[in-house]
Amino acid sequence: MNKDELIQEIKSLKKDKDALILAHNYQIVEVQEIADYRGDSLQLAMLASELKAPKIVFCGVKFMAETAAILNPESTILLPAMDAGCPMADMIDENQLKAFKQNYPGSPVVCYVNSSVEVKAESDICCTSSNAVKVINSINTDKPILFVPDRNLGSWAAKQTGKNVIPWDGYCLVHQWGFTEEDVRSLKSKYPSHKLLVHPECDPTIVKYADFVMSTGGMINWMKENDKAIIATEIGLVEYLQHIHPEKSIIPLSNKAICKNMKKTTLEHIYKALKYDQYAIEVKTDIAQKAKIAIDRMLELSK
Ligand code: 13P
Ligand code: SF4
Repeated sequence: MNKDELIQEIKSLKKDKDALILAHNYQIVEVQEIADYRGDSLQLAMLASELKAPKIVFCGVKFMAETAAILNPESTILLPAMDAGCPMADMIDENQLKAFKQNYPGSPVVCYVNSSVEVKAESDICCTSSNAVKVINSINTDKPILFVPDRNLGSWAAKQTGKNVIPWDGYCLVHQWGFTEEDVRSLKSKYPSHKLLVHPECDPTIVKYADFVMSTGGMINWMKENDKAIIATEIGLVEYLQHIHPEKSIIPLSNKAICKNMKKTTLEHIYKALKYDQYAIEVKTDIAQKAKIAIDRMLELSK
């Protein structure tokens, strides 16, 4: 099938099966274009908890589809590319978190949604990049707050809140290694009137130059009102922004920041997901119930 035929097939299967397609802001442009809804991790989690459809095709990575499955057990959540994971989420497992907690008795645990269901189940509250500061500010404790798995988001949120946060030593390879201070210096001198938007998963040596630190959803909203930006996050977001605002000057801080996992989903995968109901996400009920407590606490704060 060529691209146009695939698009037609997806549209007709979607109608037949009464399905919806959700896509994260890092997905390739053609996937985002065919989606019913696009968003950052928080927006997609909120949508997943509200939408009513027998099938939801979740174009993103596994932890996002699992969060949707926990929040919406009535719908079948399909992850079109079965092996689309998040290496940062794999940087801490349930046993490592249990050991971390033992070293800090009584400390609350904040868990970035980029984590496994088991890790969420061992945590007190979840957060995303758009609400980490709010979540940490909501915690009243005289103990240090443990933050897993992203050390960069954890230390950035600690700075914003002034709270005592102990981050786990995890990171996103794309945001950690995708940008250099030299990239910042050279693009800032080439585009002096552009603002620099930085995702909080980036290394502090990059974050310190930011005019604004934002989630991907924050960047999409900012670009609705502004014309010029240098953007430090995964390239898919920049490509989609350039696609919807061809008249604006939107410059990636680096072309090398590519999340291979976010690029695994193609139109072909979506077609097969709809045609063969693949790959349905299943989360064990007892773990899902525990993880849901931490996710619901975050959603309650984000209303
Ligand atoms: P956002 O929630 O900002 O979309 O971030 C998700 C993510 O995986 C960033 O790498
Ligand atoms: Fe995970 Fe990084 Fe990819 Fe986001 S960009 S899904 S944190 S590997």
